[in-house]
Amino acid sequence: MGKLQALLCGAQVWYNIAMSEKEQIHVALPLKYRPRTFDDVVGQEHVTRTLRNAISSGRIANAYLFVGSRGIGKTTLSRIFAKAINCPTPNGVEPCGECESCRQIAEGRSIDVTELDGASHNKVEDVRPIIESVQFKPAASKYKIFIIDECHMLTPAAWNALLKTLEEPPPYVRFIFATTEGDKLLATIISRCQRFDLRRIQTHQIAARLRYICGKEGIDASEDALLAIARGAEGGMRDALSSLDQLIAFTGDKITEEDALGVFGLVSRKSLEDLAAAILKGDAAAILRAVESFDSAGKDMRRLAGELMQHFRNLVVCQALGGNAAGIEATPDQVKTLQEQAKLCPASRLFRVADQLAEMQDKLRYVLSVRTLIEMSLLRASRVATVATVDEVLRAIRALKPAAVPEAPAPVAARRVEDAAPCQIREPAAKPVAMRNESAAAAAPAAPRPPAELSADERDKILNDDKVNALLRQMPGAKITDLK
Ligand SMILES: Nc1ncnc2c1ncn2[C@@H]1O[C@H](COP(=O)(O)OP(=O)(O)O)[C@@H](O)[C@H]1O
Ligand SMILES: [Mg+2]
Ligand SMILES: [Zn+2]
Repeated sequence: MGKLQALLCGAQVWYNIAMSEKEQIHVALPLKYRPRTFDDVVGQEHVTRTLRNAISSGRIANAYLFVGSRGIGKTTLSRIFAKAINCPTPNGVEPCGECESCRQIAEGRSIDVTELDGASHNKVEDVRPIIESVQFKPAASKYKIFIIDECHMLTPAAWNALLKTLEEPPPYVRFIFATTEGDKLLATIISRCQRFDLRRIQTHQIAARLRYICGKEGIDASEDALLAIARGAEGGMRDALSSLDQLIAFTGDKITEEDALGVFGLVSRKSLEDLAAAILKGDAAAILRAVESFDSAGKDMRRLAGELMQHFRNLVVCQALGGNAAGIEATPDQVKTLQEQAKLCPASRLFRVADQLAEMQDKLRYVLSVRTLIEMSLLRASRVATVATVDEVLRAIRALKPAAVPEAPAPVAARRVEDAAPCQIREPAAKPVAMRNESAAAAAPAAPRPPAELSADERDKILNDDKVNALLRQMPGAKITDLK
């Protein structure tokens, strides 16, 4: 019995040690994967390129200012830059990461590199030690560097105390400021710094970084799951890594798209695309079904509205740029869907749908019954997407040969015009220059005359024409949507 107890006790001790080691080892992913070199930093090439050049040419400015939203690399870049200019054994322009100086900076215990949190140390007393220590040369490095984070929180008095030093620092002193709110800084400060605006990181770039980290951590996550996490992070790498951490704690080593969507209350890409298609096709039943299912699944409806707006923005861009998807942030599969959907609706109507959605987003801020507003707005948007505008009808009529306008308009004839509207309209929208190119028209006399923009006079003439009015009466939507 005594032996068994000793054995159990031993096992318990061993288990405790193993567990505490495991707990100690766990470092939050954003910290564990903080980039250590410029090469590692994702999505800020415009900044890293300039910093690298500054280092290689030895032209280091007195003060740098990094501006950008949270979790996109401001602190990270400040530290890499500080390491790089103080590293005695750099690899090219990258800090070695191994020497005493690099390690001390990484661990926040370098005497020559001081980090100050401007949010909590924002008074004159807090910056006075900086001003006093500036007169002493660095102890062990080339530069004495001061990194001031959230610097917009410094009081005007604190800034005034710093200004003189900032303008004429001793040759061995450098400042690095970081802030989420560049607009709050006074011009006198900005003009003494080299300013860099960091970008929100693109979804696919975040997804790629997540893929790399999952590989290192032995996590099995689907591509869609990673894209969903990246979408949820809205351009912030720290948020993306924190969510990944949270998901691993929640689901273990395997992460699916469902898990990821659930965490953010996001709708899947596919459902979003289906909803957009329903709007473009005027399928009211499908729209209502979709909204119902999102609502009962507890999806974030405001977020949905924002993403839908983004989707229609992408459709407009896609239509304007044709096959070139450079202005769109999407995977190749998504681009394909966008290109197909862009064919469903002429540009003028896409703009009107986008207007409807913008209005919906606006109202969402203060409305109480979110679901009702979304249902009504999407139904209205679907109507706008499918009903021909008067301009479209007029252009279609103008494109017809005079004989083709019937004496007494029969429903069939009206239908022809309605059908003709979208395809007639797409041509000029795609090639606006060709429309006005007289010589091109002359060179190809056999081709039908392309419909041109109507002058106000022409428009009135056609609108007052009996035949046209008879025709319009057969097209219920046309009158309602536009007499602007
Ligand atoms: N551009 C980036 N590339 C790679 N990782 C990043 C990037 N930006 C942020 N991160 C991750 O997020 C964490 C926090 O970044 P940080 O630089 O502190 O953000 P902030 O802009 O708020 O100062 C980093 O430790 C890193 O893991
Ligand atoms: Mg920071
Ligand atoms: Zn080093």
